[in-house]
Amino acid sequence: MRFTLPRDIYHGKGAIDELKNFKGKKAMVCVGGSSMRKFGFLDRVIANLEEAGMQVQLFEGIEPDPSVETVMKGAAAMSEFQPDWIVAIGGGSPIDAAKAMWIKYEHPECTFEDMCKVFGIPELRRKAHFCAISSTSGTATEVTAFSIITDYAKGIKYPIADFEITPDVAIVDPELAQTMPKKLVAHTGMDAMTHAVEAYVSTANSEFTDPLALHAIEMVKEYLVDSFNGDENARNKMHDAQCLAGMAFSNALLGIVHSMAHKTGAIFADYGAHIIHGAANAMYLPKVIAYNAKDPEALKRYGKIADFIHLGGKNDKEKVQLLIKMLRDMNDKLNIPHCIKNYGKDSYPCEQGFVPEAVFLERLPEIAKNAILDACTGSNPRQPNQKEMEDLLKCCYYDTEVNF
Ligand SMILES: NC(=O)c1ccc[n+]([C@@H]2O[C@H](COP(=O)([O-])OP(=O)(O)OC[C@H]3O[C@@H](n4cnc5c(N)ncnc54)[C@H](O)[C@@H]3O)[C@@H](O)[C@H]2O)c1
Ligand SMILES: [Zn+2]
Repeated sequence: MRFTLPRDIYHGKGAIDELKNFKGKKAMVCVGGSSMRKFGFLDRVIANLEEAGMQVQLFEGIEPDPSVETVMKGAAAMSEFQPDWIVAIGGGSPIDAAKAMWIKYEHPECTFEDMCKVFGIPELRRKAHFCAISSTSGTATEVTAFSIITDYAKGIKYPIADFEITPDVAIVDPELAQTMPKKLVAHTGMDAMTHAVEAYVSTANSEFTDPLALHAIEMVKEYLVDSFNGDENARNKMHDAQCLAGMAFSNALLGIVHSMAHKTGAIFADYGAHIIHGAANAMYLPKVIAYNAKDPEALKRYGKIADFIHLGGKNDKEKVQLLIKMLRDMNDKLNIPHCIKNYGKDSYPCEQGFVPEAVFLERLPEIAKNAILDACTGSNPRQPNQKEMEDLLKCCYYDTEVNF
């Protein structure tokens, strides 16, 4: 087994100024729309790199849920500029896009299909090193071996997975997270909670990932709701917590909460419902815990989580129920619905959400089939068959109890 992290993780307030000490000639800075510019972080990155003696070029405008086309455009810009540092700043979207650009820059012959072969990326770092600076507190892509790119022609999100794309340097500076709007805090925070819980019960868990996952769960429980309500210290803590969760899941992998979130995210877009990644995870996690807890090893592990965060309970079954209740209470406090049926405008709970029952039922067999095939299913403690996956998704639609 392998455990891989960035060579350096600079963390704490002001960590972004470490860029002044980087050694190199040319840095390509990859960034999204406007938030990093608006709040002054982009200017600070540029000034720091220039102080380090580097020539800086920007690749701006990377969209949320980045496309294959954006990746190819960025790689072409890199080929022209020939950077020896790629510095990506922003949420999961610009950082993930920059990771894929990096592959194409180093290996122009590599097609997008080649990139998507799990653990099939050729050796990088012959042209450039990679630094990721995260501005959201959830994906932890600054420390992970993953990049999620969307093929809009097919309407499918593809994960690129290889330790080659684990960044060389991660900068986890909580100042960047202070400007996040509330809804983004809620969604990315529950994404982080899901990463930690899925990593802890994953069949690829290890002694190396367990402590990171448990500590992340404890911190998210302690700080997410306060962070959502505007507490500065809690917001800082969440930025670290999500990174710990990322260090765990990058090495222990995930489970079927993510499989289902990946396959339901865009499938109802024609009904106005883009089910945001973190919100999907928040809704499905309690259901998947109930389903996985039928596996004796997973049951024990959920029990350990409950003990670690002092939830009480006389036996593992009771502990699982208390863990599920805690997560549902968090959703309530974060204004996230419990099921797809109630997923309404702005991702807030409502009586009848975007996705009509008939449409859900018609698309269910295909969604379930695709979720089973998702790369995250392999490390889930139970392997659902088609019927079980459909039943589980129904529980996620109606908010009914999982009793199978
Ligand atoms: N690589 C991984 O391991 C991994 C894991 C989970 C999800 N993902 C992917 O990451 C993407 C989502 O990333 P995300 O949730 O970080 O959001 P994002 O990068 O898509 O950003 C969402 C929005 O928030 C804004 N924003 C970002 N930081 C801000 C800040 N500090 N203040 C104000 N506004 C800010 C952005 O401009 C954007 O409009 C998805 O494509 C998802 O599939 C990747
Ligand atoms: Zn996630």
